[in-house]
Amino acid sequence: MLLAQRLSITHKLSRLLLVFIIRFLISDTKLKNRIMSIRIGDVAPNFQAKTSIGEIDFYEFLGESWGVLFSHPADYTPVCTTELGRTAALKDEFEKRNVKVLALSVDSAESHKGWINDINETQNTNVDFPIIADEEKKVADLYDMIHPNASETLTVRSLFIISPDKKIKLMLTYPASTGRNFTEVLRVIDSLQLTANYSVATPADWNDGDDVVIMNSIKTEDIPERFPKGHKIIKPYLRTTPQPNK
Ligand code: BEZ
Repeated sequence: MLLAQRLSITHKLSRLLLVFIIRFLISDTKLKNRIMSIRIGDVAPNFQAKTSIGEIDFYEFLGESWGVLFSHPADYTPVCTTELGRTAALKDEFEKRNVKVLALSVDSAESHKGWINDINETQNTNVDFPIIADEEKKVADLYDMIHPNASETLTVRSLFIISPDKKIKLMLTYPASTGRNFTEVLRVIDSLQLTANYSVATPADWNDGDDVVIMNSIKTEDIPERFPKGHKIIKPYLRTTPQPNK
């Protein structure tokens, strides 16, 4: 083979390799951006978004409150209609707990506004919390709310509870076909707010007012002073006390 031919083949191969590397780097960055998942304890990313009540900055909207950010697959669908109606009906319960709620789907603000009329009519409510119009899927990608093997285009039922210091405290993910239990969402908020202030945890099926578990970081000899309402030692690692803030 002539030297010129060899050089030409080497040149072509180098160009092919370069194209391959560039393509790989682009797809890898896209993938990383897309699957940058959020986890409990992470700072909840801030964003600006169009909503049914106008433009908002997430952090400004939350202020010093706790937050519930939740996505639904689509406007004008039955399960979503009941979920947003239920959220509106629980307005006083969220307010009592200093929680601001914010819904999201990839529909437009105009669509949200029309649908809100239907929700209010059919669920006998007044939806006054914002619904994010995430048409470009910016927030959905930021919070990993699109699970492509469920749907390439629609958000699943994701729900995040965010504390006043803007940390992710809880994440729930439900499929489109299962409406969430908003009584459970309130129960978890009660648990999170309790455990933020006392060295306790809440056992299975706990409800506000039930006995709680004393954290193992508390020495048994320190329990009477820390928990004056009394306590039970079931095992050295399983100690309970009446709910301290009741
Ligand atoms: C619903 O809200 O009813 C729903 C939405 C998307 C897929 C399936 C059900």
